[in-house]
Amino acid sequence: MFFASGSGSNFQSVIDAVKNNEIDAVISGLITDNDRAGAIERAKNHNIETTIIPDFGSQDADDKLIKYLTKWEPDLIVLAGFLKKIPDHITRLYPQKIINIHPSLLPKYGGKGFFGSHVHRAVLESGDGVSGCTVHFVNEKYDEGKIIKQTQVKVLPEDTVETLAQRVLSEEHKLLPEVIKQILNK
Ligand code: GRF
Repeated sequence: MFFASGSGSNFQSVIDAVKNNEIDAVISGLITDNDRAGAIERAKNHNIETTIIPDFGSQDADDKLIKYLTKWEPDLIVLAGFLKKIPDHITRLYPQKIINIHPSLLPKYGGKGFFGSHVHRAVLESGDGVSGCTVHFVNEKYDEGKIIKQTQVKVLPEDTVETLAQRVLSEEHKLLPEVIKQILNK
């Protein structure tokens, strides 16, 4: 199952990989904290059950989370552009079963506040010649779980936040399905 807060293009890359039989799996559901997330439409287009939990972090939200996790019994939980923190007591229920994709070469440019364009701006300001994306296991600390796989992306002199973000995102769309396939189809 997936958590997503935004457009859901990473979510879509896995939907497509499952549809093309590249990944032998069923996507059991989507949880989002944002009722305007593009991921909702993508789920609807593929009859993937979706629940919106706007008050993420509240007791009521936790109860809903447990309800759907119990119902869906996921073998793997994927955070694909999810901006909220999974409550620790949930993370502890799924050791090495929650993964996240992050648009930098962690541990660089990770942690609180490093999401979306903030990441790419920090990379450009640092003068680093290379960036990339990382899929890692989720633990109780933001972006600090064990790294599973990374893809490097060259930073070009003429890069803007937008051009770098786009180039990294297109690598994310390859990396995430690849890692999920590696984990599930062992
Ligand atoms: C991606 O860059 C991902 O690395 C980060 O949030 C963005 C989500 O994009 N966690 P999308 O919603 O999958 O298009």
